[in-house]
Amino acid sequence: MELLERYESLKAKVINRRTDIVALMNFVENETAYMTAPASTKFHLCKEQGLLEHSVNVAETLLSVKKVLAPEISDESCVIVALLHDLGKVGMPNKPQYIKVEPSNKQKQYGLSPYPPYKFNSDLIYLSVPVRSLYLIGGRIALTEEEVQAIIYHDGQYVEDNRSVAMREEKLTLLLHYSDLWCGRIVER
Ligand SMILES: [Fe+2]
Repeated sequence: MELLERYESLKAKVINRRTDIVALMNFVENETAYMTAPASTKFHLCKEQGLLEHSVNVAETLLSVKKVLAPEISDESCVIVALLHDLGKVGMPNKPQYIKVEPSNKQKQYGLSPYPPYKFNSDLIYLSVPVRSLYLIGGRIALTEEEVQAIIYHDGQYVEDNRSVAMREEKLTLLLHYSDLWCGRIVER
């Protein structure tokens, strides 16, 4: 299935908060770089639409894993946290976090691509990715406490800031963390 088709079929799984997810994703798709941004400057999926591909991969992985380990968690919750966990990587409307590096004249001459392909936008005020994700979500959709925890702490113990959640992770947080790691390290390698 094409990436956009996979993305649309995931969004269709959000039933109870249908109006809100449609409004939120309209904003995200039309006013931020969500549909075109890479997933990183030089690591996994550092290419156009990399962020969308990563978000879709994580959502599909999370749905598979939760089906086996925690079927009581709704598909809706899984889709929401997976599609939004890295939303902060878009930066702000009109101020993307990732900027394409233009090839030098020499690179152009030899048909080479610049490395790394993207750089961070230095005009952006520092916010960690999950904090910016929540900032951009704003009040557009009502999140449960479990969903907020999952989005904020999705990097698990890999991030110093996340120590406070140790041993207090909800199931959704653990499964999102694992699915994110699995996609970044295995699926998207
Ligand atoms: Fe991620």
